[in-house]
Amino acid sequence: MPQNTRHLSANSQGYAEAAQILREGGLVAFPTETVYGLGGDARNDMAVAGIFEAKGRPRFNPLIVHVDSIETAQRYVDWSDAANRLARAFWPGPLTLVLPLRADAGLSPLVTAELPTLAIRVPAHPVAQDLLGTFAGPVAAPSANPSGRISPTTAAHVTAGLEGRIAAVLDGGACEVGVESTILGLTDGPVLLRPGGLPVEAIEAALGGPVARRGASAPLSAPGQLASHYAPGAYVRLQAHKAQEGEVLLGFGAVECDLNLSASGDLREAAANLFHHLHALDALGAKGIAVSPIPDHGLGAAINDRLRRAAAPRE
Ligand code: TXA
Ligand code: MG
Repeated sequence: MPQNTRHLSANSQGYAEAAQILREGGLVAFPTETVYGLGGDARNDMAVAGIFEAKGRPRFNPLIVHVDSIETAQRYVDWSDAANRLARAFWPGPLTLVLPLRADAGLSPLVTAELPTLAIRVPAHPVAQDLLGTFAGPVAAPSANPSGRISPTTAAHVTAGLEGRIAAVLDGGACEVGVESTILGLTDGPVLLRPGGLPVEAIEAALGGPVARRGASAPLSAPGQLASHYAPGAYVRLQAHKAQEGEVLLGFGAVECDLNLSASGDLREAAANLFHHLHALDALGAKGIAVSPIPDHGLGAAINDRLRRAAAPRE
């Protein structure tokens, strides 16, 4: 349904208006420390259906629920020792835990795409925390981009993709981490379902043991892992040392390029710049985006994961 998307400021009036929209079953995009989320009341079927509709997202792809604290999370999932250890170490922050959904959770079945598990996290961004505190309920929120496109790290990215399809965007500036949360399955031993803003090495250190990596042939347990995801309009070519005819070069480290993820080779800075630079290069209308090699450790694993998906053949 076309509507005017309102631009709300991150102040008490903005939070009150955003919370009111959520209570009425409307959709509000809001900043988290990773990327902007497209929020709706996770208990309201119409709101959750609206999220899928606004994004053009396949219904079999479940959503992450955002809550304000560990105590609130325990109302929705079966808690465990490993969950407790990780939540105490890394929440609020860029870690999503997949745990058994409680039978009395009271969430819309659309949120989990009827899976017996729920993906849940406590975001660290102060604007997300204020919104969750004012609304005082669980907020289902995928990244606030049309399905299959690059995730938004500014309010302007959100409106570029979803203007007219959502009630409001709460503007909290640019996201600090810049790639989505790390998703960890805890239903059957710790399994990395999606590398993200929290390096898996940090999770292994906190657990004092290894985290399994989901092999390429494993069943689709995080359906957002579909190959052609995060696609800009331009094609993407990896491990490039220079741009070819019709390409722009997205660099890393000391290279001559059109835009640099981090001239000093800092992976944290590169993650924060990744989607921003892809949006910016895409807007130049280049035929292709060539990308410098990026180390695969720490946040580099999440960066390379997103780049491989951006470079994958399109459906
Ligand atoms: O940083 C983030 O995680 C952002 C911010 C807004 O919180 N959200 C985000 O949501 O990236 P989304 O919908 O773009 O990605 C969520 C991923 C999808 O790949 C989905 O398949 C997976 O989480 N997921 C959700 N529920 C799941 C479950 N029960 N089991 C396994 N994977 C699940
Ligand atoms: Mg997404």
